[in-house]
Amino acid sequence: MGLIGAELLDGGAAVRLTWKTGQSARFHAIWLRDNAQDEATRDPGNGQRKITLADIPADIAIQTATPGNDELTVTFSDNHNTVFDADWLKTRTHDGRVQAKSQRRLWRGGHTPLCTALADLQSERTALRDWLNAVDRDGVAIVSGMPAQSGALDQIVALFGHIRETNYGRWFEVRAEVNPSNLAYTNLGLQAHTDNPYRDPVPGLQVLACLENTVEGGESAVVDGFAAAEALRAEDPAAFAVLASFPARFEYSGSDGVRLCAKRPILECGTDGELIAIRFNNRSLAPVTDVPFDAVGPWYAALRRLGEIIDDPASAVTFRMEPGEAFIVDNTRVLHARTAFSGSGQRWLQGCYADLDGLRSTLAALEAA
Ligand code: FE2
Repeated sequence: MGLIGAELLDGGAAVRLTWKTGQSARFHAIWLRDNAQDEATRDPGNGQRKITLADIPADIAIQTATPGNDELTVTFSDNHNTVFDADWLKTRTHDGRVQAKSQRRLWRGGHTPLCTALADLQSERTALRDWLNAVDRDGVAIVSGMPAQSGALDQIVALFGHIRETNYGRWFEVRAEVNPSNLAYTNLGLQAHTDNPYRDPVPGLQVLACLENTVEGGESAVVDGFAAAEALRAEDPAAFAVLASFPARFEYSGSDGVRLCAKRPILECGTDGELIAIRFNNRSLAPVTDVPFDAVGPWYAALRRLGEIIDDPASAVTFRMEPGEAFIVDNTRVLHARTAFSGSGQRWLQGCYADLDGLRSTLAALEAA
């Protein structure tokens, strides 16, 4: 949609653009010069910026701004000339605009994770796009029709990225052990948790695949940690704030030669207050030493209440994993749990980690195709 007006402001320090739709927005001269799309400013091949801020005079001004039907032609005071696409500018207005929130869809119970067969994800771009979008939007999705073989996890992560190898290996076994190095490797129930909060950065994605499951119990459950945190924020903003304001400490030293630790808040928010991550794992929460003495009581009370919301059965989606099935969670947001299981029968899962940026990159590329 074309431009119908370009009015210089403050001697060319800024320009007010008006589109045919009636929408109007101001742009600073420095912003326009820095974001010029011409070949002298941006590499036409990879789109990366070729100049630094030092190449732009601090007092840069707009000398002329001429609107065309589909473009804006600008001459700057440093004699640089460039042409902007009118739609490109329209989608990048920032004059009084509230920051866009993410497209996440929060849920508390009652959610049916999208389940797609591995063969469809491997062969159909739209199936893969929809499945990746479900992980990004809902924080969880399921894969069916996998080979019930050791290492088959590779085929899931290969759909969008690369396994993040850790001290647990390329992947790790989740089955009963006599002397477990981690409480995950027993038949005890596990409270809903995010994995590996003692890493920085925390693994953004976890995949858990089922190879055998003939035990009684041992169901899997997932809880949307962001929905739980937002429920806490709604009922007690001060409780939310205390968990977001002070760092907690997380540690793991259960294996020889490993002493992992991270100093991060239970609830991490961006500068706009939107949640970035939840870290919730009673097994690896270390003594908290960064919460001031007077705030320790409120901090524990807030953590207890957050735990009650998370433990509320109404928050969880529960399902039984069968051989050939796997689920993937956004480990910065969605907690996973399992119920206790009996010693008879076999329960064998394999898990691995991967990063969210690769998944979102593949999703964006599929959406742009
Ligand atoms: Fe876990």
